[in-house]
Amino acid sequence: MAAKRPVVIGIAGGSCSGKTSVTRAIYEVFREHSVVVIEQDFYYKDQSHLTFEERLGTNYDHPLAFDNDLLIEHIKKLLVRQPIEKPVYDYVQHTRAEEVIHVEPVDVIILEGILVLEDADLRDLMDIKLFVDTDSDLRIIRRIMRDIKERGRTTDSVIEQYLAAVRPMHNLFIEPTKRYADIIIPEGGDNEVAIDLMVTKIKTILETDNVL
Ligand code: ADP
Ligand code: C5P
Repeated sequence: MAAKRPVVIGIAGGSCSGKTSVTRAIYEVFREHSVVVIEQDFYYKDQSHLTFEERLGTNYDHPLAFDNDLLIEHIKKLLVRQPIEKPVYDYVQHTRAEEVIHVEPVDVIILEGILVLEDADLRDLMDIKLFVDTDSDLRIIRRIMRDIKERGRTTDSVIEQYLAAVRPMHNLFIEPTKRYADIIIPEGGDNEVAIDLMVTKIKTILETDNVL
């Protein structure tokens, strides 16, 4: 029997909108099948040649911060059922970690990140495009809590970064990509109806003859 083309789902949305929660909900349904999550964040450009102080100056919410060439190369490999070595990202050191994760070919590829709908070449690889839409007041509250707890930040640094880069880049680059979404999910992972609709659609694509 001919190999099937994997299904690619793009999940975009502002920082702390709930992309990871939506991703996890879909992942759980397909974990018995074969599914991988590709985080666009893990494809931030390597900054190991910069000092820690220099890395603090990077605008992590600008499209140019990402190595989308490598990301596209990896998605294309998975689409023809070849394995990849996925980078790992260290938010505390602001650069790629030394280790990589070996990823075998899978049926469902979930590509998640603030700017996954911004790049036309990346969009062209997706079967389904989602935008998780959550108000900015909720997102900043969540971000302060998460970045202090999980990413080694202080309240002041999160607020400063939010005002200098996160908010302006969101308005300039992330919010406009909503127009490319097939589905806009308000409030993220708690939206069970939207998750069910997504799962049904993915199953339909998997059951059709989408051969390589
Ligand atoms: P993203 O991947 O878009 O940055 P996450 O799904 O990781 O967002 O959520 C960011 C933070 O907000 C996490 O700490 C998560 O626990 C919290 N969070 C996500 N969804 C909700 C929700 N519906 N209610 C409360 N907190 C939430
Ligand atoms: O998980 P989330 O979608 O919030 O991740 C994207 C965010 O991570 C961006 O808004 C960016 O500001 C932040 N980031 C950071 N430090 C890094 C890399 C990314 O604060 N070194």
